[in-house]
Amino acid sequence: MLTNKLNTFRRYCAQASNPFYATTPIFYVNAAPHIGHLYSAVITDAICRYQRLRQPEQSLHLCTGTDEHGTKIQQAASAQAVPVAQYCDDISARYREVFAEAGIANTDFIRTTEGRHKQAVAQFWRTLNAREHIYSAAYSGWYCVSDETFLTDSQLRLDTASNTRFSLESGHPVEWTEETNYMFRLSNLQDDVLHWVKQGGRIRPGKFEKILLDMLSEPLPDVSVSRPTNRVHWAIPVPDDDSQTVYVWLDALINYLTSVGYPDEKFRSYWPPNVQVIGKDILKFHGIYWPAFLIAAGLEPPQQLFVHSHWTVDGQKMSKSKQNVVDPVVAAKTYTMEGLRYFLLREGVAHSDGNFSNVKALRILNSELADTLGNLLSRACAKSLNPRQVYPRLHAVQLDDLLRMDATKRLQDALQQIEARCAQHYADNNFYLVVDTVISTLHAANNFFETARPWELKRPIAAGGTDADAANTRNIENFERLETIIAMTMDTLRICGIVLQPIVPQLCGKLLDKLAVPQEQRLWRNLGECCFAMSPSISASNGNVTRPLGARTDAVLFRRIQLDESELLAAGQAYKPQEKRHTKPDVEENTSKQTKQKSNKKAGKSKKVAL
Ligand code: MSP
Repeated sequence: MLTNKLNTFRRYCAQASNPFYATTPIFYVNAAPHIGHLYSAVITDAICRYQRLRQPEQSLHLCTGTDEHGTKIQQAASAQAVPVAQYCDDISARYREVFAEAGIANTDFIRTTEGRHKQAVAQFWRTLNAREHIYSAAYSGWYCVSDETFLTDSQLRLDTASNTRFSLESGHPVEWTEETNYMFRLSNLQDDVLHWVKQGGRIRPGKFEKILLDMLSEPLPDVSVSRPTNRVHWAIPVPDDDSQTVYVWLDALINYLTSVGYPDEKFRSYWPPNVQVIGKDILKFHGIYWPAFLIAAGLEPPQQLFVHSHWTVDGQKMSKSKQNVVDPVVAAKTYTMEGLRYFLLREGVAHSDGNFSNVKALRILNSELADTLGNLLSRACAKSLNPRQVYPRLHAVQLDDLLRMDATKRLQDALQQIEARCAQHYADNNFYLVVDTVISTLHAANNFFETARPWELKRPIAAGGTDADAANTRNIENFERLETIIAMTMDTLRICGIVLQPIVPQLCGKLLDKLAVPQEQRLWRNLGECCFAMSPSISASNGNVTRPLGARTDAVLFRRIQLDESELLAAGQAYKPQEKRHTKPDVEENTSKQTKQKSNKKAGKSKKVAL
């Protein structure tokens, strides 16, 4: 007893003294948030929520925010004829609102225009300077305002008709710039950066490690880390030299330090970050510049960069000019924010681009959240089957009997594997595989429910004459069998609800509220308590009591979305029956393929209703 308490206390101390720190990129305020931005944030949020589910006692910091300095922001504000500070306030507030609505549980929202950040940047600059990593030089080159970076000739494409050069990677135009700048001795740090990247597992998925190693196979030039104030005035001044402002990428990257209290020494308790989530377009800045800046300042680079690919819309890059930018607030009117979160994490895979289409979103949400998950809860809670509105207990004899059915064995099998499989998928940030595993478990549960036919057990058998006792016994058996079927169904829903919390926290909160699962029993460690997954003898003793359902929560988890064809067309999404889903992932699973086929079949069925 005492040893147990001591172990719990030790575990608590170890977790509490070893905090977890995750970051999203900070978002440019030159335009309103779109689903690509939300994607970076939901991935980070799901990583953190999973961490909390596993280690609720650990302190955790999730930082997000807005990147507000530089020419790009100056230009966006002047195009709208709004003072730049007000412009930043407005767009930054929109990010904050969207993230709150999407359930992003950030513990900080940083803005690079805040005083605390300016102080951190000044201190970081002084440290680099004191350690002789900065020098002044005349510099000339092609500058891309949209990417906020200088580019080399090999990174450019010349359009001979207009005699204009464009960034090969982003497609944005560049301008010739000659100025005196402060330079950072990146060339001195090539080996250190390479050493960091090669430590294995630093850059995930592996595809992006290869891309980074490729970039590092060429000699790294020194980089400009300041701009003349008369060109870029909306920026942080270089300490002790007002004629220069700090390069926006150096300014922006330092936000990760500011958020944990740098330059105050307390920042060290969170440093280095456990995981920094970024999109593939900003790999060079986070995979080369950032570790180099940190090493130069005598600090440890992040433990891991998790890199995700991009969302296209109907196969096209999202852009204002194509008018195909998906605004999360608008999309949430159709799908709900929880639905949108589910879609992004269910359909997105880190290593290849995902395609957003209304038809696909509609099909997935209707078939999985409404028909597979929601419908099972409604059926188990239906007053006709469950008039007492309870989460009933299991009855050992009936359970034994039901476990002989193939459909029950399949469900039991799925439940026995769900914890280990999903733990692995979460550890790899393969959220789509977590969903695959959960949905295939729910398919097994729906199949079990159909096969067990609980509705046939609810009508009492009339007692007539001498058969009264036999009828009474049958009625008791039927009642107990009905309760056992509902209990097994509810237990499956409880397990799936716990597992899916990092992906759709509000929806799972509602599910677990309806099932009256106490808050402190919604943790990963509670997955081991499945009433029937292990063996009937364990199940009979394991918290097996009847309890009332949550009366204040209705049993409709996710309403089917009904859009007619004209509404879909109005949204600019033509129906494509043979949409290809993921390209080959790093880790492909048979189960995942099978589930995809099943769920596509199911989705096909719902097409008629959805359209
Ligand atoms: N401000 C810089 C980051 C500085 S971090 C120190 C920036 N901002 S951004 O607003 O342009 O992009 C923020 C994030 O959104 C990046 O991770 C980027 O990859 C992501 N996305 C932008 N467009 C995207 C898609 N179309 N799809 C998925 N993610 C995308 O870069």
